[in-house]
Amino acid sequence: MIVAVFDTHRFDRASLEETNAGIGHELRFFEARLESKTAQLAAGCDAVCVFVNDVLDYATLSILQTLGVRLIALRCAGFNQVDLKAAQEFGLTVARVPEYSPYAVAEHAVALLLALNRKLPRAYNRVRESNFSLEGLVGFDLHGKTVGIVGTGKIGGVFARIMAGFGCRLLAYDPLPRADLPVAYVTAPQLLAESDIISLHVPLLAATHHFLNRETLAQTKRGCFIVNTSRGALIEAQALVDALKSGQLGGAALDVYEEEAGVFFHDLSGQLLQDDVLARLISFPNVLITSHQAFLTKEALINIAETTLGTISAFAAGIVPENVLVRL
Ligand code: NAI
Repeated sequence: MIVAVFDTHRFDRASLEETNAGIGHELRFFEARLESKTAQLAAGCDAVCVFVNDVLDYATLSILQTLGVRLIALRCAGFNQVDLKAAQEFGLTVARVPEYSPYAVAEHAVALLLALNRKLPRAYNRVRESNFSLEGLVGFDLHGKTVGIVGTGKIGGVFARIMAGFGCRLLAYDPLPRADLPVAYVTAPQLLAESDIISLHVPLLAATHHFLNRETLAQTKRGCFIVNTSRGALIEAQALVDALKSGQLGGAALDVYEEEAGVFFHDLSGQLLQDDVLARLISFPNVLITSHQAFLTKEALINIAETTLGTISAFAAGIVPENVLVRL
């Protein structure tokens, strides 16, 4: 199969090429994100391979169909960027990588939480400048704190087990409770009211869009820490800024941001940041942001490459790929 790989970076190109060496698909790599303006790059390709910030809306999918593309292989778990109804209408098969390493994401959530709480970025920068002062570096013990986990699927489940190891009290909110986790399931309002730390591990759906908004942030325990390694639009960004400014929130550790597309994954260091809300978030001493890197471990990249190329090979052989979201 000839595959147009969009939003390519050195790290995913390397793992895809290495895995493809023994398979032999023709992979055409493009740095551009897939959107209606760039869809023509897929001319002559049977499939497109896309990531989290590509835009597969009605207009883009319509162009792909006209070009003769038949398969959309997502090299990620979340699929909120795809209009699945339109894909069905245009006869496009859509498949994803439902699980590549829940450990990668859950461990990054814990890394962010620890770094934010113990002020590691500040401490690191100080020591590099021979400033060995401890002023302003007071954190808190995680032991004994209440952690609210929103979504206890694969990643939330791993996160729960890690936090249990710290000696935290774990509350969880999920319409599909699991019996194998050390958590107490509660209602969303109870989780908001009792948690010292809230970590989001739900997919972005209509029901979860702006799960944390002006109203729900006001229901959190004062000084609560928010961790979001899931999808940016689970949090209303301006409401987050206001809750941090007022002290309602004690801190936010974010791997994702509502308007991250076109910003995250790119080196914009020579430019002026145009997003004022992001610029304000970056300016807070109690906010720590990484650029959607929670998935970025060697193990995850290999799993992503193997599953994605397995999907493409199955489709080429006329077999319905595993992990399909839209099957024709
Ligand atoms: P999963 O499908 O295993 O778990 C999601 C859980 O959310 C399920 O238990 C489901 O019942 C629950 N849920 C659904 N709707 C809910 C609602 N309205 N309220 C509360 N719970 C609800 O998904 P997984 O693998 O744990 O991934 C979670 C999310 O993490 C993905 O959807 C994706 O957005 C994000 N992710 C982020 C990555 C990153 O690099 N930052 C990498 C991989 C995933």
